[in-house]
Amino acid sequence: MFHALLLEKQAGEEHPATARIAELPEDFLPTEGRVLLRPLYSNVNYKDGLILAGNSRLVPQYPLIPGIDFAGEVIDGGGSDFKPGEQVILTGWRVGEIWPGGYASMARIKPEWLVRLPRNMQLRQAMILGTAGLTAMLSIAALEGRGLRPDGGPVLVTGAAGGVGALSVLLLAQLGYQVTAVTGRLEQAAWLQQLGAQDIIAREEINEVIARPLESERWAGCIDVVGGAMLARILGQMAYGGSVAAVGLTGGADLPTRMMPFLLRGVALLGIDSVMQPLAIRQQAWDRLAALTPFEMLERLTEEIGPAELPACGEAIRAGQVRGKKLVRLDSWPG
Ligand SMILES: NC(=O)c1ccc[n+]([C@@H]2O[C@H](COP(=O)([O-])OP(=O)(O)OC[C@H]3O[C@@H](n4cnc5c(N)ncnc54)[C@H](OP(=O)(O)O)[C@@H]3O)[C@@H](O)[C@H]2O)c1
Repeated sequence: MFHALLLEKQAGEEHPATARIAELPEDFLPTEGRVLLRPLYSNVNYKDGLILAGNSRLVPQYPLIPGIDFAGEVIDGGGSDFKPGEQVILTGWRVGEIWPGGYASMARIKPEWLVRLPRNMQLRQAMILGTAGLTAMLSIAALEGRGLRPDGGPVLVTGAAGGVGALSVLLLAQLGYQVTAVTGRLEQAAWLQQLGAQDIIAREEINEVIARPLESERWAGCIDVVGGAMLARILGQMAYGGSVAAVGLTGGADLPTRMMPFLLRGVALLGIDSVMQPLAIRQQAWDRLAALTPFEMLERLTEEIGPAELPACGEAIRAGQVRGKKLVRLDSWPG
């Protein structure tokens, strides 16, 4: 038997999902060719918030153990190269959506989905980073791949007080970029400056739709988690040859843009996906995170919670109220 947060939902959009802590038999987990693991830390992403609310585009079937990220130890390699006691990271692959996820004291995962914990990183640190850190790192690599360099001009980060945003600010600043942070929470300006933002812009300043397709050239690069009207506006403010890493859609899934930024300024919109990235790229990104992350700063970015606080935390992240990352400890279960 093992402990897990179990999400249940009756058929029909009108029914909300309900979450409870349950004791489940080991055969609740898929078996074939999988590594048996003990998750020790997880975290809460915006997507976890949607899943905890019973989002039917993400979760086709219930009951489900949610949790799209976890870090933990191998119990049994199940015939793979993994040895008992090895420490691993799992993010994405639709675990916690269609496969039983990380809010549990036991998990079974395909070996080809597991990243070995880099040598100079702890499990706790890996889960403060989680999908958000991996996505920030993939975004930076994509921007660099299209020529972004620290002396190229300011880089904009939207949704900066959230998980991907705050980690993007931290990592870009660490690499020597001049970072401007966009936030709807100006009360977090001092905190964002501590993470490395040199300038702060209020969300309302850049969120409104304007008639002109091109404005003055301001940004050499951008990591955008907001999408919608804000992304459309930013495209018109990009410097010649600049790129935007499109990560999220907390501000909307539509993109009401025009062709001019692409045709007259050679602006590139780079789609970022962290969920299905091949293992080699993930391992590379995690190794770079291990080398680059200022770990002493990570604690400023996080607050710890237990499994019982997950439903309330899901609500808070959907409402855009979580600052930085929530780390979930999985070593003690109520009841
Ligand atoms: N492509 C990928 O692989 C990938 C990976 C991870 C996440 N994502 C996506 O990236 C987004 C952010 O994820 P996250 O886990 O970092 O979430 P998060 O911690 O909740 O951060 C999102 C931030 O967006 C801003 N925001 C929220 N509602 C907004 C609105 N209506 N208009 C403008 N800004 C708004 C807020 O920042 P401020 O308070 O600072 O304004 C909020 O903190 C989500 O859409 C998520 O699905 C995608």
